[in-house]
Amino acid sequence: MAFRSLPFCSLDDMPDLAGKTVIVRADLNVPIDDGRVTDATRLSAAVPTLATLADRGAKVLVLSHFGRPKPGDRSLSLAAIAPALSDVMGRPVGFVGECIGPEAEAAVAAMAPGSILVLENARFHAGEEGNAPDFVAALARLGDFYVNDAFSVSHRAHASTEGLAHVLPAFAGRSMQAELDALEKALGKPVKPVAAVVGGAKVSSKLDVLLHLVARVEHLMIGGAMANTFLVAKGVSVGKSLAEPGLADVALDILARAEKAGCTVHLPYEVVVAKEFATHAPHRLVNVFEVADDEMILDIGPAAVEAFADALKTCATCVWNGPMGAFEMAPFDAGTVALARVAAGLTASGQLLSVAGGGDTVAALNHAGVADDFTFVSTAGGAFLEWMEGRVLPGVAALERD
Ligand code: 3PG
Ligand code: MG
Repeated sequence: MAFRSLPFCSLDDMPDLAGKTVIVRADLNVPIDDGRVTDATRLSAAVPTLATLADRGAKVLVLSHFGRPKPGDRSLSLAAIAPALSDVMGRPVGFVGECIGPEAEAAVAAMAPGSILVLENARFHAGEEGNAPDFVAALARLGDFYVNDAFSVSHRAHASTEGLAHVLPAFAGRSMQAELDALEKALGKPVKPVAAVVGGAKVSSKLDVLLHLVARVEHLMIGGAMANTFLVAKGVSVGKSLAEPGLADVALDILARAEKAGCTVHLPYEVVVAKEFATHAPHRLVNVFEVADDEMILDIGPAAVEAFADALKTCATCVWNGPMGAFEMAPFDAGTVALARVAAGLTASGQLLSVAGGGDTVAALNHAGVADDFTFVSTAGGAFLEWMEGRVLPGVAALERD
């Protein structure tokens, strides 16, 4: 397994945990609506690590942030999440309304071996995001070992994701291990040829992703509004489509670098256009050279899906980030759904290793009903993108053995 060659310690390297306390950095930053968790994926991802440690007799502390609280605002409490974690774990999970200091220390002292306790939102303290040594020390006082199981927050150099790894013996949790293993197989040391499917609204937000990818993949399929910027750069009139014409030179530079590196860039040559940005807006299917001045591109057309799919079929590995069109609005979800189903089908038949992640991607794959059919779907948004840019994530780097 590729991960094993990486310089991390895992749960398998931990000593006897009887009588010990383990601080697990999980990502309990889940979406809620009216106090109820609407997507428990990240909670489920934490279960293997938490259950393993509890079953080994450790007192297990769950450390996380929740949202982006303003100084002094305590409304984003993890009290609402602890019961949902208990539900997915099928065992009791306690909660204490502090993550450092006497209240937290007393709660830890009172824990039975093998029990699990969620600590209050670490971002209630400025020292969390500031990675302040005194806050790190206060957290470290609670436990004997540190496990980072939150890949999705590992792009933050915060106390709970980075600082703690330097003051306690540090280990990668099961979810972290699975993420790193999948990412290694997708872009680190992939089986070639590799395809990258990249979509979303703006080239500007994924510039570094595209630059990193063209040097590493054989096929790059670009969809979503970001494809429009490339079309504009190539002299295509995209009407009133969302685009960043100011980035035309950058787009041309990316295309030139791709050509030099032997990466084939696929742009949609057939698109779905409408005059308004609305669900079920009247629309038509056109060749990309036939977009009228008062129309906007809202999806890739079936012929473009087929062309992307044909390239995908020649590949052994696929990394996917971003939707191909305005997938939240029917029928402009069709291109994303159709291409996602092709990737899922190729994965099911063993021809393709598929890894997806980042922002809207999971929502798009869930919408297509294929999230479970990909080889791996990351729990990460921003961290997945930073990894696709080839960046070193501070929370991951801090886990490396000296
Ligand atoms: C996320 O939801 O992407 C992670 O939990 C990180 O949250 P943040 O972007 O507020 O740091
Ligand atoms: Mg984020």
